[in-house]
Amino acid sequence: GAPVTVDIGALEEGQRLIAEWRGQPIWIVRRSKAILEALPTLDAQLRDPESTNADQQPDYVLQANPELRSLKPDISVLVGLCTHLGCSPEMVAEIRPAPFDANWKGGYFCPCHKSKFDMAGRVYDGVPAPTNLLVPPHHYADDTTLVIG
Ligand code: FES
Repeated sequence: GAPVTVDIGALEEGQRLIAEWRGQPIWIVRRSKAILEALPTLDAQLRDPESTNADQQPDYVLQANPELRSLKPDISVLVGLCTHLGCSPEMVAEIRPAPFDANWKGGYFCPCHKSKFDMAGRVYDGVPAPTNLLVPPHHYADDTTLVIG
């Protein structure tokens, strides 16, 4: 399929845009400073915090910001499909107190079989999803123009 161009100029902190590329939902999220600071603290709870599998993201994305899995630190670009059986996880971006989950630092929750991912799409240990969410190939044509594909 052809590349898809998305204007992210109006995307506010905590917001998500959903584009479509090759029949898949692509999430584009502007992460808050609090979320970005929480990400490196989660590694011990994650199955593959360094996201070492080359199939999970393009090399150039991982090299740019390894813990964030993004080219721009604040902008996350992910394929919005659970890596278990392909349901669409829900975004719960706020860092929430109990009773939802005392340790929740924001991320994605799959309602189908309760897989959890952080705000970089990294999968938690002990859930059915086998791998991190995928980062699609993408680049920026200019500061506010994202090209997916
Ligand atoms: Fe997401 Fe099974 S499809 S946990």
